[in-house]
Amino acid sequence: MQEVTDLGFWRVVAEYGPPDLLVTEYFRVHSDSRPERQILRAIRENPCGVPVLAQLIGGDVPALVRTAGLLQRERIAGIDLNLGCPAPLVCKKDAGGGLLRRPEHIDLILGALRASVATSLTVKTRVGFDRPDEFGTVLDILCRHRLDAVSVHARTVREMYAPVAHYDWIRTAATRLRCPVIANGNISSVAAARAVIAATGARGLMIGRGAVRNPWIFRQIRDAWSGATSPAPTLVDVRQYIDRLYHVACDPAAPERARLGRLKKLLAFILPGLDPSGELVARTRSAADEKELFRACDDFLTSTQPFDLEPHQDSPCTALV
Ligand SMILES: Cc1cc2nc3c(=O)[nH]c(=O)nc-3n(C[C@H](O)[C@H](O)[C@H](O)COP(=O)(O)O)c2cc1C
Repeated sequence: MQEVTDLGFWRVVAEYGPPDLLVTEYFRVHSDSRPERQILRAIRENPCGVPVLAQLIGGDVPALVRTAGLLQRERIAGIDLNLGCPAPLVCKKDAGGGLLRRPEHIDLILGALRASVATSLTVKTRVGFDRPDEFGTVLDILCRHRLDAVSVHARTVREMYAPVAHYDWIRTAATRLRCPVIANGNISSVAAARAVIAATGARGLMIGRGAVRNPWIFRQIRDAWSGATSPAPTLVDVRQYIDRLYHVACDPAAPERARLGRLKKLLAFILPGLDPSGELVARTRSAADEKELFRACDDFLTSTQPFDLEPHQDSPCTALV
C-alpha cells in the first residue's frame, strides 16, 4: 500500500509474523521514470525473509518492459502489474484501475511483459471500472496470457473502498483462470479469511488495511489453518504495537513532526472503533507532539480487554485514500 506498507512497516511485520509473500508499493512507470530508490531499498533490505513481487503502475508499454528489465536485476520473485489504483490522477493517465476501461491495452501490456519477464508475472486487478459485469471481458484478456497469479480486489474502481465487495466475481476468476487467484478486500480477521476463501474458492488471500490494523493476522491465519491456537491480542498489545510503529516504521532519523505525521496516518487504520466515544481518535489526531499522542494512547489502551479486529464500517480508514 502506497506510502503505508514501506520498508519500515515491513520491519514491524517481520516482528509480528510475516505473510508468505510481499508486494512492494508501486513503482511509477512512464517514459523517463527510474525505479524509486526507497522501494528498491525495501527490496534490497527485505527484513521478512519471504519472496517479494515488485509492483508496476503505468500504461507505457516500452517503459513497463524497460522497468521490468531493470527490476529483474534485483532480488525479486516477480513483476506485478497494478490494474486497481483508483486515484483520479492515475486513472486519467490510463494507468492502474484506469486501464480496466481499455482491455485491449491490457492485452498489449501483458503480451510485452510476458515476452520479456523471465520470473513470475502477476496481476493485481479490481473487478471492473464502472460495473462488475465488465470484468468478464478483462478475464478474457487475462486468460490469454501465461500469468503466474492474479490478485482480485472485490470492488470496482468507482467503488473505491465502499463497504460492498463482489466476492462472486473472485469466484468467477478462480473458476476461469488457470493460474492461482488471490482474493483481496476486507480481510481483517481469521473469521473473514475463512468466509472469503469459502465464498471465492481462491488459493490465497491478499491483506492490506487489515494487516496495518492487526499485524498478528498472518500468524493467526497460519495457526488457524494448521489447527493451532494463536494468542488473542489485547489493548495492551495494541499499545505496544503503536510503540513499535513509532520506533521502527517511522524513520528514526526524521524530524519529530514527520514521524508524528506518519504515525497518525498508520493510526487511522488502527484506532477507529477501539474507543466508542471517539475521544482516542480525536486526541491522537490533534496531538501536537509525541508526548501528547502517547498520553492519549496510555489513557485508553491499558486493559487486557480483547482487541476488536473488525474496524467499524464507517471508520475513517475506509476514506483514507
Ligand atoms: C492507502 C492505500 C494505498 C494503497 N496502495 C496500493 C498499492 O500501491 N498497490 C496496490 O496493489 N494496492 C494498493 N492499495 C489497495 C490495497 O492493496 C487493497 O487492494 C485494498 O485496500 C483492499 O484490500 P484491504 O481491504 O485488505 O485493504 C492501497 C490501499 C490503500 C488504502
